[in-house]
Amino acid sequence: MPKEMVNLVFAGHVDHGKSTLVGRIFYERGEISDQMLQRLERHAEAVGKGTFHFAFFLDTSLEERRRGITVETSYKGFETESRRYNIIDAPGHKDFVKNMITGASEADAAVLVVDAKETSTSGAAPQTREHIVLLNALGIDRLVVAVNKMDTVAYDRESFDLCKMEIEHFCEKMRYEAGQAATYVPISGLLGENISKPSQHLPWHDGKPLLAVLDSLELPERPIHLPLRMPILRAFSVPGVGSVVAGRIETGAVRPGDRVVVAPYPGTGVASGEVKSIQWQHVDVESASAGDDVGIMMTKLERGFVARQVKKGAVLGVPADPPRACRRFKAEVLVVDHPTGIKAGYTPYLHVHQAAMPCRIVNVILARDAHGEAKKIDDESRLKDGDSAVVWIETDKPLVIEPVAKCPRLGRFVLRDGRTVATGLCIEPDFTS
Ligand code: GTP
Ligand code: MG
Repeated sequence: MPKEMVNLVFAGHVDHGKSTLVGRIFYERGEISDQMLQRLERHAEAVGKGTFHFAFFLDTSLEERRRGITVETSYKGFETESRRYNIIDAPGHKDFVKNMITGASEADAAVLVVDAKETSTSGAAPQTREHIVLLNALGIDRLVVAVNKMDTVAYDRESFDLCKMEIEHFCEKMRYEAGQAATYVPISGLLGENISKPSQHLPWHDGKPLLAVLDSLELPERPIHLPLRMPILRAFSVPGVGSVVAGRIETGAVRPGDRVVVAPYPGTGVASGEVKSIQWQHVDVESASAGDDVGIMMTKLERGFVARQVKKGAVLGVPADPPRACRRFKAEVLVVDHPTGIKAGYTPYLHVHQAAMPCRIVNVILARDAHGEAKKIDDESRLKDGDSAVVWIETDKPLVIEPVAKCPRLGRFVLRDGRTVATGLCIEPDFTS
């Protein structure tokens, strides 16, 4: 592939301006014509959401437009001179955190969008915090913080510094290294200040504008020499042609002609096919490797293979070292936010790469408090916020999860129960269960 691909998720609290910023970026890159922008403005006026024209570029459903919020995570690509971006616009509303997790699981890096006024006056908002916890848990190790809506604080430096302090403080508390190393950029997404060129309203800011910061983000190493692993985000059939599986390749590489397998696959556990072609943003490419978010067209499918049966969260791999499903795994968990504490028998919802399902903490083997002191474990002892523990987790359905030591992004998970209650790292799957 010619230019390096960057999968970039836009995260942060509801209404802080993620979609507006994404729309603005596409506009400034010449991807939205003036005519199209006028059409978006007319649509926004028509539903009484006059300021949402840029947001409507990706918020396209009736529900999203009427409510003025993002519900589904959107993906859209553009290229700069040096990079190809896959922009992932996630929802900030608390009801759609699972869709944000889907988006973050596809990302190499994140732009955390925070509202300058709200954050400088009331501190980091609930989903600003929850998204920071999730980005950390899912292994996003590059972060840019866009302090947005600077126009609403008259481009005031002190407000920007306050926002920076708030976010830095929370990242430090959560031990989010990328958060501590983050670049902070003051912007106005709506008015286009400090996006592709420096803003005259921000003479005190000595850093680069947002797009230049993104172009200079140092990207994580791509583990292309490991066996292929691609968690599947979508699968569908193209009648008469074959089946397509789409997602982000975490490790390894793939090219047309390769034999590949999918697991778990109902019935047989794994199913195989041959790669016919690979597409990025609807364009055929010769090969794809770790970090690429692509669609893979498969042919010569094993008898009985139906794309419809391949669920989101299944994993594509190679026959020589195939992904294997389990129903039980050993893990280390860290409790981040639970009102009463967690004990054996607890049944939260598990999110790992693109898979999501109910699970159960079967037993707690070892527990430590926030200071690293061992905690006594009996039937009644609860793991409280800040405690960590080694546990066995059973899942509702077969699941491909890998030790973090082998494939970090396939082994990092979160547990949710109305909110994100714990983060975790898989130590080892149990294939005998
Ligand atoms: P969700 O996706 O629902 O979480 O929201 P979002 O973060 O995508 O916010 P969205 O882009 O939909 O914008 C929410 C509101 O903030 C809209 O009214 C925008 O016009 C407004 N807004 C976004 N950016 C700016 C900005 O830079 N300045 C001002 N004044 N308003 C902004
Ligand atoms: Mg949005």
